[in-house]
Amino acid sequence: MSLMKLQGISGSEEYDSKEIRYRTDNGELLEVIIDFDAIDRSAGEWKKYFEKGKQKTAFVRYKDFLLPDLPEEKIVTLNEGDTPLYNAGKKLQDYFGVKNIFLKHEGMNPTLSFKDRGMVAGVSWANFLGVKRVACASTGDTSASMAAYAANCDSLESLVLLPEGKISFEQLSQAVSYGATTLGLKTDFDGCMKLVQELTAKHKIYLLNSMNSIRIEGQKAIGLEALHQMNWEVPDWFVIPVGNAGNVSALGKGIRELYELGIIDKKPRIAGIETEAANPLYESFKNDWAELVPVKAKKTFASAIQIGNPVSFKKAVRELKYFNGVMEEVSEEELMDAKAVVDADGIAVCPNSGTALAGLKKLSEKGTIKEDEKAVVILTAHGAKFSSAIQEYHKNKGNRFANTTKICEADLKAIEKTLGLQE
Ligand code: F0G
Repeated sequence: MSLMKLQGISGSEEYDSKEIRYRTDNGELLEVIIDFDAIDRSAGEWKKYFEKGKQKTAFVRYKDFLLPDLPEEKIVTLNEGDTPLYNAGKKLQDYFGVKNIFLKHEGMNPTLSFKDRGMVAGVSWANFLGVKRVACASTGDTSASMAAYAANCDSLESLVLLPEGKISFEQLSQAVSYGATTLGLKTDFDGCMKLVQELTAKHKIYLLNSMNSIRIEGQKAIGLEALHQMNWEVPDWFVIPVGNAGNVSALGKGIRELYELGIIDKKPRIAGIETEAANPLYESFKNDWAELVPVKAKKTFASAIQIGNPVSFKKAVRELKYFNGVMEEVSEEELMDAKAVVDADGIAVCPNSGTALAGLKKLSEKGTIKEDEKAVVILTAHGAKFSSAIQEYHKNKGNRFANTTKICEADLKAIEKTLGLQE
């Protein structure tokens, strides 16, 4: 019996979940609908099911809530998940103006970003369907993750379309080392995204961008795992960076389903954060969630979210409205300062996560997020993927938290002098 189907997001058309398609015949985005009635578990039974899987890898532990129709023997896993949920200390509380902050560090996944949560689902499903080639357009993290999971699955070749010169060296190195075919195109992410859709529509290649609704199901695990770690105590806010808008859609869908199943008893609010350089959802929010007006995304330290025409716009707006959500935008200075403050706490985060963190600060200054509210910030990738942004920030003494390297003679006296130590 099939427990999953694909459905247009307005509820119109339905398709078999094993059909390879990313939109309805009318061009609408699809989402997976799970037949939770047929699974027939009470809220308490769901909690027991999640708890029972504690020893298993996160995707397997949560599988019935994510992809119940996927046979376990088809799973391609790199042991993603079980990422830390840090409780921010006094220094961070003071800087961000919120007393109760939890940092869900998705950069602690196997390829150092949250993308592994969706890729374990997407590549396992590709394995289940028996496809031979997978592809994506990427700002660097999706490609790294897809390449790793495809490499781990003997039968899959991977192809990535990248905006040349617009992703970090480390991200590119990941896709290359995992053996993907990498194409650097003289365009931006939005240009790559358009081409990969045309390519995969024409050839037998399975598209693994977040417009693939199977991948989104895997990403629901982030919010779910955070809530599980908090013993189902719902925070007031989830704060998340937004690029192509897949992850905020996944976060919303997962929490919405948990709420509808009675597994949680309260709806959190969701804050999506963009940079000023690429802010189409923020503009929509400001205009009462107006239709998407794509923008030409400008250069930003948060290169993974340099996206002006987010594919999952409609899904994201629907979830944000459901959770009484807000959008905020932040400047380059704000996001790099916020990143530097968290890095200096020993938690290495990427500039895209810095965007979410700066959003938390801005929303607390505006009074939208109150000092005594509880906020979970989704940190989406590890700082180690973005070393040139870090170098650039810290070598400029004008930056608020710059920590510049002091050049010194290789001599004990010179070292003592530089450090201000007594001889
Ligand atoms: N943070 C990081 C580190 C990302 O890599 C991305 C997206 C996002 C946030 C935003 O997530 O697109 O679902 O809204 N990176 C994609 C990629 C676009 O190709 O790696 P989103």
